[in-house]
Amino acid sequence: MAQRLALRTRPGRLVCMLIGLFLLPADSRATAEGTAASGKQGSAPYTLTIPFGLDAAAGYIPADNPLTQDKVELGKLLFFDTRLSQNNTVACASCHIPQLAWTDGQQVGIGIHRQPATRNTQTIVNRLYSQAQLWHGKSSSLEAQAINPIHKPVRMGMPSYEAEVAKLNEIAGYRARFRKVFGTDVTLDGLAKAIAAFERTILSGNSPADRFDMAGEEHAFSESAQRGLALFQGKARCTRCHSGFNFTDEKFHNLGIDWDGDQIDVGRYKVSQDPDDIGAFKTPTLREISLTAPYMHDGRFATLEEVVEFYDKGGIQNPHLSNLMVPLSLTGQEKADLVEYMRALNGEGWQVAPPVEFPK
Ligand code: HEC
Ligand code: HEC
Repeated sequence: MAQRLALRTRPGRLVCMLIGLFLLPADSRATAEGTAASGKQGSAPYTLTIPFGLDAAAGYIPADNPLTQDKVELGKLLFFDTRLSQNNTVACASCHIPQLAWTDGQQVGIGIHRQPATRNTQTIVNRLYSQAQLWHGKSSSLEAQAINPIHKPVRMGMPSYEAEVAKLNEIAGYRARFRKVFGTDVTLDGLAKAIAAFERTILSGNSPADRFDMAGEEHAFSESAQRGLALFQGKARCTRCHSGFNFTDEKFHNLGIDWDGDQIDVGRYKVSQDPDDIGAFKTPTLREISLTAPYMHDGRFATLEEVVEFYDKGGIQNPHLSNLMVPLSLTGQEKADLVEYMRALNGEGWQVAPPVEFPK
């Protein structure tokens, strides 16, 4: 509570706090000291900077992967290093491009040998607040997700995890860094942990919408955006799913994307085998949304205007359509106001300069 009040009085600034105190989930709080004291995973703890508008206490950091400065730095190097791919052409950052709020501007991700993925590249901002990753939530943690693209033929194309580990162990600079952080040579576990730790530091908050909503700051938040906010929470029903400070309920819903074509991606059903999940996908955050076009899991919409048109019609009819989806009867002005509001969700905490040098 005290923290919250402090946040409210200084909206223009980024607020720092120690992760050990505020960010560890309740179940791991008790072991926080122990983890820090064992000191195995790199030297100094990493001080996470939480932008205004985000809930510092809601972040999820697994007890066995505390953030440390050396680990985050290592994860960043790995994230940007094309040598993680089979022919040294594709890095995580090839598809998750920092300037595009960590997306790629493509309808679907384009991997090694220019092979197309089946889905649109997601942003990695505010992953600190999610456990299930990917559009269908198949990866239960950032650690589990981080190694997945490496051996996927349409992402980075390594023949196996063993080959990846052997390849990185030939780079003396990486061996040294893994030794320092994990006390071992390069391992798959260390690779996953370092990349996940880096991703947890990529945050987005302190947008004009946060400053208006939580601190009453009106400049940079137009009257149209103010009307858009009221619509977003009211008539347009967006907060039924895009709820809370990260604009997502972290749940899966069927909006009917794909059901107007001849190929249907079953989405969450593939993971849960629950018929209620057929065609359901994870509600994405809307932070930085104007930078992350095109939209939806198949990247079908080029603009936010098209997205709003889609919702106005109530999505696409199909036997599994979410009952939260209904036609909205928005006026032209109301549609424009919603778009204006979404454009005010761009903030800071995610702008990171790529590494200048890589381990040799
Ligand atoms: C070829 C392009 C490409 C590359 C390379 C790539 N990604 Fe992705 N990324 C995607 C796509 C496409 C998705 C959505 C996939 C899906 O849901 O099926 C995604 C999803 C993710 C997500 C899930 C975000 C969320 O909101 O659930 C994370 C995290 C992520 N990638 C991290 C990484 C990391 C770490 C690497 C490097 C080890 C990487 N990506 C390499 C294209 C790529
Ligand atoms: C029933 C839950 C639900 C409601 C209501 C809802 N959304 Fe969504 N939203 C989602 C889901 C789920 C997706 C991803 C769907 C997919 O790709 O299949 C999504 C995707 C989006 C995207 C694209 C995000 C991206 O990264 O590609 C935007 C923008 C968006 N919604 C805005 C809105 C707005 C504006 C409203 C209100 C008019 C709204 N949503 C109402 C659940 C919902």
